[in-house]
Amino acid sequence: MEVTERSLSETLEALARFSGAGPGVTRIAYDAAWREAHRWLRERATALGLAAYPDAAGNLFFHDPALEPGADTRALFVGSHLDSVVHGGRYDGAYGTVSGMLIAAELRGTGKLPVVGFVTFEEEGSRFPGMLLGARSVLGKVKADELDQVKDAAGVSWRAALEEAHAEGCAVPLAAGDAPFHPPFRPATMLELHIEQGPVLEREGGAIAIVEHIAGYRRMIARLRGAARHSGTTPMTERRDTLAAAAEMILAAEALALELGAPAVATTGNVRPAPGLFNVIAGECELWFDVRHPGSAALDAMALELARRCRAIAERRGIEVKLERSSGEDPTPLSGALAGEATRLAAELALVHRRMTSGAGHDAMEFARSGVPTLMVFVPSRGGVSHSPEEFTSPAALFTGYRFTRELARRLSERGAA
Ligand code: GLV
Ligand code: MN
Ligand code: MN
Repeated sequence: MEVTERSLSETLEALARFSGAGPGVTRIAYDAAWREAHRWLRERATALGLAAYPDAAGNLFFHDPALEPGADTRALFVGSHLDSVVHGGRYDGAYGTVSGMLIAAELRGTGKLPVVGFVTFEEEGSRFPGMLLGARSVLGKVKADELDQVKDAAGVSWRAALEEAHAEGCAVPLAAGDAPFHPPFRPATMLELHIEQGPVLEREGGAIAIVEHIAGYRRMIARLRGAARHSGTTPMTERRDTLAAAAEMILAAEALALELGAPAVATTGNVRPAPGLFNVIAGECELWFDVRHPGSAALDAMALELARRCRAIAERRGIEVKLERSSGEDPTPLSGALAGEATRLAAELALVHRRMTSGAGHDAMEFARSGVPTLMVFVPSRGGVSHSPEEFTSPAALFTGYRFTRELARRLSERGAA
C-alpha cells in the first residue's frame, strides 16, 4: 500500500469523527469516544496488514504480525497520543497517531530495526492530573499503587476507569506485582510527528520544524480563603473577597511573563469561586496556574516568583492562601544526533526547515528522559491555533511532514538506528 495526501487526510478525518459533543474534538481517556476511536484504529491497522496490540493501560501498538512482542524486541517507535483536550482540534495527537500507524504499514518488513506505530492512551491530562500518563505507562514507569491513587475530578480511580477499557478489548489484563504495565517492545528510537501549535512555521513559510528541545512547565493550584459575607451589607473596606484577590493574582501571573518576555509564558486556566452567587462575597476561591519556560533555572525562578507575588497579594488583602504544586515536567532536550540527521535530510529534500523549541508538552519528553534517542517533527498550524476547534493544517502540509518522517524512519530502520 502507498499512502497519498488524500488517504492521509481521509484517515485523519475519519478519526476526528470519534468525539464527544462539539465543538471540535473531545476524546478523553477511556470515555466512549476514546473507546470507539481505539476500536476503529485496531480495525484499520488490521486491514492494513498490521497486528494491533493494546497493552494493559490501553496504549496501542501497530506492528508487523511476524514480529514477536517482547521486552527485548528493539523497535523504532513512531506515534503520538489519542486523547484530546475538551473541545480541542482534530490534529493534536491524532496526526502523529495516524502517521505512526501508516508508516508502520508502509515500512512493514523492510529495515533492520522494525517500525512500531504507537498510540498513548493519555497525554493531555484532561482526565487525570498531570500529563504523559500514557508515555509513562508505555515506558514501564508506573507503580501499581498509582492505579488507586490517581483519580479524575469525579473521584474515579485510574484502576476503575481502566476496567471499562479492559471490558471492551481496549486493554489486556494488568500484570501482577508492582509494575502493572510492561512495554511490549523496547523503544530503540522514538519519532513523534505533530502540528506546531504555534505561529512560527506559517509566518516564516517553513514546511517543517525539527524540534530539539521542549519547554518545561509547573502547574500550581492556589486555594484562597477569605470571608463569605452579605454582598449588600458588608462595607467595601471590610471585605476579605477571595475573588477580588484572585483577579489580582491572575494579572500578576500575566505581568510576570510579560516582564520576563518570550519564551516565558504564564496562564491561569481556571478560577473556581465559592459559593459563586450574586449576593455572597466569594469566601473561597481556587486558581489553576500553568507557567512554562525552556530553561530549568528560569522555570523554577518563575514559579517561585509567582508564588511570592500571590502570597503578597493575599497578605495585603487579609486572605489565607495555600499554594500546592499540582504537576510539572522539566525542560527536555531531544536527541542532538537525530536533529542533525533530520536537518541534513530536510536539506537533501529541499524542504524549507528550521530548528525549534516546543512550547507545548509532548509524549516525546518522557521517552527522551528515559534515555531513548527521541525527535519530534512539526508542520505548520494555521494562525498558530491549537487546543481549539479551529486547529487546521492543510492536507498538503500534513503530507509533506508525513513523507519527511517516513523517509527519516526508513533510513533509521534500514541502518538499525542508534
Ligand atoms: C499539552 O498539550 C500541553 O502542553 O499542555
Ligand atoms: Mn495538546
Ligand atoms: Mn499533542
